[in-house]
Amino acid sequence: MTAAPDQFDWDALLDAAREAMTHAYAPYSDFPVGAAARVEDGRTVVGCNVENASYGVALCAECGLVSQLHITGGGTLTHFACVNGKGEILMPCGRCRQLLWENGGPDLQVLTRAGVRRMEEVLPDAFGPSELG
Ligand code: THU
Repeated sequence: MTAAPDQFDWDALLDAAREAMTHAYAPYSDFPVGAAARVEDGRTVVGCNVENASYGVALCAECGLVSQLHITGGGTLTHFACVNGKGEILMPCGRCRQLLWENGGPDLQVLTRAGVRRMEEVLPDAFGPSELG
């Protein structure tokens, strides 16, 4: 089910993602990415992708974002947006959908080119922490 529209300021979150994208280190793919998310307590956390010479172990923007989430006090992500080097909305990769599921849960609002979607729709039938219980 697509999330109901709310009063959330998606433009401000997109601006934060675009600003984060300008810090990307992506000399191998030449594909800079920026991500930004709102936390339940009102914080905004951001990340950019950071590549290295061992191509396969690049850090996605979402990795940095989740690290900043925990460094700054943890909590649950409520809204998420990601952009490419043109500042256009980008969908998170498969691995990063798992990171978002862990830190935002099924109700996380994800900005997509088709509108706002719940995380449960972006990663259906997710494997998550409850499976380990
Ligand atoms: N990338 C991200 O940072 N996040 C995603 O969700 C998709 C992919 C990065 C990884 C790599 O540095 C570049 O984009 C090309 O795949």
